[in-house]
Amino acid sequence: MLKDRSILLGITGSVAAYKSLELIKGFVKDGASVKVIMTEAAKRFITPMSVEIASGGNVYCDMFESPLSHVSLPADADLFVIAPATANIISKYANGIADNLLSTSLLAFNGRVIIAPAMNWRMYENAVFQKNLHYLLSLGVKTVGPERGSLACGEEGMGRMADVEKIIEAVRTSLSKQDLAGEQVLVTAGPTREYIDPVRYISNRSSGKMGYAIAKIAKRRGADVTLISGPTAIKPPDGVEVINVETADEMHASVMDNVPMSSIFIMSAAVADFVPAETKNSKIEKKEKFSLNLVKTSDILEEAGRFKNKPFIAGFSAETGNRLDRARKKLVNKNIDMIVFNDVSKAGSGFDADTNEVVIIHRDKEGEIHEQPLQLMSKEDVASALFDMIVSLKNEGLSE
Ligand code: CTP
Repeated sequence: MLKDRSILLGITGSVAAYKSLELIKGFVKDGASVKVIMTEAAKRFITPMSVEIASGGNVYCDMFESPLSHVSLPADADLFVIAPATANIISKYANGIADNLLSTSLLAFNGRVIIAPAMNWRMYENAVFQKNLHYLLSLGVKTVGPERGSLACGEEGMGRMADVEKIIEAVRTSLSKQDLAGEQVLVTAGPTREYIDPVRYISNRSSGKMGYAIAKIAKRRGADVTLISGPTAIKPPDGVEVINVETADEMHASVMDNVPMSSIFIMSAAVADFVPAETKNSKIEKKEKFSLNLVKTSDILEEAGRFKNKPFIAGFSAETGNRLDRARKKLVNKNIDMIVFNDVSKAGSGFDADTNEVVIIHRDKEGEIHEQPLQLMSKEDVASALFDMIVSLKNEGLSE
């Protein structure tokens, strides 16, 4: 995602500075080249040598070591990140003070800046500091965090630097195309649970990873995203509205409520096809014999496909074996625009995997079916490919 991107990272004097090493490694792992400017105070928390090793040798501290570095460093950067950002650097930046390599480089940079504030809650809530912060926000500077929690001083409050993964995601968002801006994306994810009694349920092996990846990429590309999720163990992406449901019935009701507000609807949840005909109020006792009556659930996707002013609709078709014929049938029978086929019996495409190998199948205006097989790739890359296709199909529709 950050391949061939150049990030200039400023580290200032906060106890959170040790997390910057993880941040640098995360940027590098994502393909970015990272140059780092450390303030004198930052050097009290982590050593330039650790930063040098993490960044591959690109650490700068002294303004006068190379007289024009405050101009050349920002000139080469796609994005300037300050993490951790103390009250001092934020206030200096807001007031145009240039008294060290970092503050001077900030003034010489006219691209996008992301800051991750970290300080004591009293400093964070201070009116002078807030005025400075708001001024920067009004100029288009982006912030990640801070978060509420226990602070280095032992107090609880607002001022902890945001998690490294959140900062990296903010950077990805900032450098990503925003071609889903203005879209209302509705995504479903995960399994459903159908209760037999208060302690037992029927469910399936869906982890929710594919749906969460779709929600994350949609958000990154600028959409407003609502994620209707069955029970999963995954942390939802930042900035996404999450509606937690448990049963197929609850998922059905929530989808019906939200489809009318959506412009793109992607149904990746593994909804139960059958549920117990009745749910007992108390635990069923062990008997010699036990049988369960099941009844069919309503097909949510098919119902959404019957909406009059329906959004662009995509479904999933997880099959065992190369049953593209079944996926094609579902695309037509459910009257939707796209279906994503995968063979869950293939290595790397099964439940709980971080990767998927899919075939994207869609219908054009004339009803003709087109198929695009993709290589085995990460679920985030599958999500990106899906949106590339959806955006181009929507654009084609608009230009007709
Ligand atoms: N789906 C749904 N509501 C259901 C069952 C499935 O909306 N009650 C959706 C799934 O989220 C998926 C698509 O329909 O996007 C295909 O689901 P799948 O289980 O592959 O197919 P089914 O239509 O249930 O048919 P079958 O189980 O026979 O394969």
